[in-house]
Amino acid sequence: MSVHSSKVLRVLALAGMVAAFLLPAGSAQASASLRTHAEARGKFIGTALATGPLSNETSYRTIAGREFDQVTAENAMKWDATEPSQNQFTFSGADAVVNFATQNDQQVHGHTLVWHNQTPGWVQNLGATAMRDAMRNHISRVVGRYADNPAVVSWDVVNEVFEENGDFRRSFWYNTLGESFIADAFRAARAADPDARLCINDYNVEGINAKSTAMYDLVSELRGQGVPVDCVGFQGHLATQYGFPNDLQQNLQRFAALGVQVRITELDVRIQMPRSAAKDATQATYYRNVVNACLAVTACAGVTIWGFTDRYSWVPDTFPGEGAALIYDENYQAKPSYTAVHDALAGGTSTDTTPPTTPGAPSAGNVTSNTAALTWTASTDSGGSGLAGYNVYREQGANDTLLGQSTTNSLTLTGLTPNTAYQVYVRARDGAGNLSAGSPLGTFTTPSGPGGNGGCTAVGTVQNQWNNGYVVQPVTVTNTGTSAISGWTVTFTLPPGHTPAGSWNATLTVSGQTVTARNAGYNGNLAPNGSTTFGFQVSRPNGDTQTPSGYTCA
Ligand code: XIL
Repeated sequence: MSVHSSKVLRVLALAGMVAAFLLPAGSAQASASLRTHAEARGKFIGTALATGPLSNETSYRTIAGREFDQVTAENAMKWDATEPSQNQFTFSGADAVVNFATQNDQQVHGHTLVWHNQTPGWVQNLGATAMRDAMRNHISRVVGRYADNPAVVSWDVVNEVFEENGDFRRSFWYNTLGESFIADAFRAARAADPDARLCINDYNVEGINAKSTAMYDLVSELRGQGVPVDCVGFQGHLATQYGFPNDLQQNLQRFAALGVQVRITELDVRIQMPRSAAKDATQATYYRNVVNACLAVTACAGVTIWGFTDRYSWVPDTFPGEGAALIYDENYQAKPSYTAVHDALAGGTSTDTTPPTTPGAPSAGNVTSNTAALTWTASTDSGGSGLAGYNVYREQGANDTLLGQSTTNSLTLTGLTPNTAYQVYVRARDGAGNLSAGSPLGTFTTPSGPGGNGGCTAVGTVQNQWNNGYVVQPVTVTNTGTSAISGWTVTFTLPPGHTPAGSWNATLTVSGQTVTARNAGYNGNLAPNGSTTFGFQVSRPNGDTQTPSGYTCA
């Protein structure tokens, strides 16, 4: 654990974790707190704290202390709170959070030292030399104040330095100092507290996309230069209408391979209001999936939720019409999302033996010689572990084959055999692994392949989207001919106002709204029935919900 161990060990001892580790995972009672289960798994479970209710509301303090073993100041450690005028430092809010954490055996993650938001105008208007000096001074004073405090173990050194397309954000920091402010900030933080774990933090980096890949490249480069980046924070501000980033675990794992700690730093899952039982259930699966991804990655230290009660959440103010993003309601009643986090952390103790309801028969649209787009009526799950997804099977008598899995009630099958009749059915899975009965059969027949002249198909899936952009990943390109091909071209049309913002595994050229994707050097060769994938990201006007459909391959 290197230089960080001293602080971590002190906090573990404070938290009484030594005893918790002696218990087999899951031996705690089902009603035990989130932190009891998290500690037994060697992870933290945290919350952001707002100073108002922290000083005014007993229920707030009680739950925050009982359920969480890690805290982050929601606003109290930001620059506008700690250094509103140059060299005038105020730590009243920050100290209140640190004192609460100390009383409750919680570790504190300092948030955040260098950010383009909530930073006073006097900083933004400085010239380059003065700005760099002010940044170093701020880091030295804020980090220095808690350097000997055993509760404060980590810091977000820089926050949100990337644009959605992976470019550096054109913030006043970048515009005045260039990208070197990032390395400078980390070095200043290390000098101020050699034991603290130093993190870079951002949003929309949960899945594998242009922005997270830019983050990955930067962390790799900085560490190669000896810049002390110890940890990467994935904020996790999710919204049920944009889908779950299903490659979260894979993404955490690729960062872990760089040698950094990873953590979920600001998890919330907003819904489009009003609340309903169905939306609560969907939200719970998102919470469960995030916790499970962290549990599955050794280098993931834990999960911090951005608050805990819907009574105090930034979501309704920031995303009009959306809300109810947290695990307790506004009256401090635990929601299904609390149970989901609890049961995921409790791991293996689930007593859910109730399978989901049987899904509807799959119906096939857009059948090509190698692909078919299936949709079916969704299942529901009442056993407590929540609906996890679906398995799609081909009916073949005694030896049915699994054709694919999906987390939603649709799936595009690829790699099908041309000129073949298929009978398929779907079974739903819950979080405890219970499988529903098979749905009624759906049938379709693939047409003949285009022959030996190198035909191909392309099928795109929207993996992740947000207000003004989305990621299409994967686009699966399949050689449907009977002889090998050595290159492919996929064409599609973007809705008006949409512009590409990066791609991987293909080169894009744009003419008007028509986009042409050509294979990269390494993925043009496809054997008959062989396939490869590429992906791309698109910017779109705020509030536009369109995405492209209809990919043609040649
Ligand atoms: C938010 C707070 O929750 C709000 O109270 C405040 O008004 C604005 O900032 N990314 C971050 C957090 O890193 O600091 C932000 O917190 C949410 C987005």
